[in-house]
Amino acid sequence: MNINWYPGHMKVAFDNFKKNLKLIDIVVELIDARIPFSSKNPKIDEILENKPSVLLFNKIDLADEYTTKKWKEYYESIGKKVLLVNANQNKGLNNLRQILEDELSEKFKRDEQKLIKDKTIKMMMVGIPNVGKSTLINTLSKRTGAKVGNLPGVTRNIQWIKTPGKIELLDTPGVLWPKFENKEIGLNLAFVGSIDDDILDVENLSYELIKKLNKIDPNILKNRYNIEFDLDTDIAYIMDMIGERRGAILKKGIIDYDKVSRMILREFRLGKLGRISLEKVSDFFG
Ligand code: G4P
Repeated sequence: MNINWYPGHMKVAFDNFKKNLKLIDIVVELIDARIPFSSKNPKIDEILENKPSVLLFNKIDLADEYTTKKWKEYYESIGKKVLLVNANQNKGLNNLRQILEDELSEKFKRDEQKLIKDKTIKMMMVGIPNVGKSTLINTLSKRTGAKVGNLPGVTRNIQWIKTPGKIELLDTPGVLWPKFENKEIGLNLAFVGSIDDDILDVENLSYELIKKLNKIDPNILKNRYNIEFDLDTDIAYIMDMIGERRGAILKKGIIDYDKVSRMILREFRLGKLGRISLEKVSDFFG
């Protein structure tokens, strides 16, 4: 579910997160592997203060493998511990305990000195909407269909979920607001479904997505829809060709742009256009 982030919502989310931070040892910050820059909350490091955290790239099945590797190297180079995961297929989670332990090595040393034997790790998930927090909580808890509160401001009793590897997980993820820095970031967030489609109407959004995909690799659309075009072909014409191929045609042979637009967005989000990363490290960090 997407949320319109007004200042009041941000404050509630921030306060809730701060409250829960006191209860846990470590934060697992989820980002979307297709947009590893834009899907990071802009304030997260400030909010965390000195609480240990690890960075989890989710939806790696939808992102380009090489680009993901480069992003992992980048974040590791600035001191983050990174885990690459596909939450809804339960992939990449075997190392979770290990990476949490690495990040918490100081705490465990202190515990040992105090003769504390319990090695339980208390953690919480945090991230912007739609990065897969609830899916991951369900996957870890193996409680399919478990209801997980997703709105800032939902006050419920704190509940812990026991997961394998002596990890106790706060059942309510911290939902944080996304970046609002510029149009490009806004578009990337909308393409992956982390902010409402109505940032632009769907036709404009899909128009922008086609432009973006053609910049990454024109073969993405050519191959998927079996069409041919040049670099200077009008985007509206590309939409016409896709509409014709898929029979998205209204009466009198007019292309149903709304249908075509929704289809392109849906197919991109589901990975049917291939594994596509929308952001490269070099787009942001030289
Ligand atoms: P949130 O709590 O952070 O808001 O995200 P949530 O778990 O609701 O996940 C958002 C969407 O992302 C869901 O799809 C979910 O299935 C999908 N998802 C989560 N992890 C992965 C992953 O690793 N790979 C892929 N490909 N998808 C993932 P949905 O279509 O909105 O809902 P649903 O019909 O699948 O339940």
